[in-house]
Amino acid sequence: MASKIRESILHALSSGEDNYFSGQELADKAGCSRTAIWKHIEDLRSSGFLIESKRKKGYRLLGKADELNESNLLVGLKTSVLGRKIHYYESVESTQKIAHALAQEEAPEGTLVIAEEQVSGRGRMARNWYSPKGTGIWMSLILRPALPPQKAPQFTLIMAVAVVEAIQKVCDLQVDIKWPNDLLIKGKKITGILTELQADSEQIHSLIIGTGINVNQSESDFAEDIRDIATSLKIESDRTFSRATIVQEILKNLERYYDIYIKEGFEPIKEIWEQYAVTIGKHITARTINKEISGYAAGITNEGVLKLVDETGKTHLIYSADIE
Ligand code: BTN
Repeated sequence: MASKIRESILHALSSGEDNYFSGQELADKAGCSRTAIWKHIEDLRSSGFLIESKRKKGYRLLGKADELNESNLLVGLKTSVLGRKIHYYESVESTQKIAHALAQEEAPEGTLVIAEEQVSGRGRMARNWYSPKGTGIWMSLILRPALPPQKAPQFTLIMAVAVVEAIQKVCDLQVDIKWPNDLLIKGKKITGILTELQADSEQIHSLIIGTGINVNQSESDFAEDIRDIATSLKIESDRTFSRATIVQEILKNLERYYDIYIKEGFEPIKEIWEQYAVTIGKHITARTINKEISGYAAGITNEGVLKLVDETGKTHLIYSADIE
């Protein structure tokens, strides 16, 4: 009930431009008392919503705490490089596409492209990535590590660890990693990561790490055909989260792990990744674009490639696949 009242208040206050709503009007809409409205308004304010109250007029929403714009993201951001340059959009085809163009125009390392909505969000293996307005995190980060292109898959795994730990800290939810790029809560997908690169045969020019996180969607926000396989942080906890806080936590974690990676290599991060991974140590089927191999997932290589041992004992190196 509490979250329904909160939603009803936010819905009303967001519905008209510059409109005031009296406590009684909000109470009628939410089906509760004026005292309950007052209490929820206080709660919303402490979550960061700017709500004005004026005598004889009522309440008015001045600012949505949860917009992912540059100022909301920069206030309280604890990084030196990542996310220090932000390109924010209301609606884009794909943040990945914009980040590729910016990377070619020499955008600095750590540049973040983030949008409220993507109308042609892209997933792995040419799939679509559903990115509805204002409810999730749709972002692409540009990194410029001086490394050969074979190292690129490691960055999907580094980002996975950064996101898992951010969700644990901000939302108190346990997240599992399914190799290579899926983050799951109770078996349902919460996050996908798409790492792409601009490189020559010797060196990476730029890495574009695209991350999609389902945050504040309700079950009815997902199309019926994906309700069984996808979930959101809100569905799993019955709470709404500040997307900006999650982004800030991810960037902070990633900067720390990126630093460790540059100084000590992939090994320390691989160890942490393995603690969260559900794929390893199981019998699985890997579907690549042109074949299907079943076997035992023995671990990942230092490059982040999956080692799959088939029934004859032969080890296959899987670079990209769907896992079942
Ligand atoms: C997957 O699991 O298939 C990867 C999904 C990656 C989605 C993100 S959302 C932000 C960025 N922009 C895109 O178009 N895709 C990535």
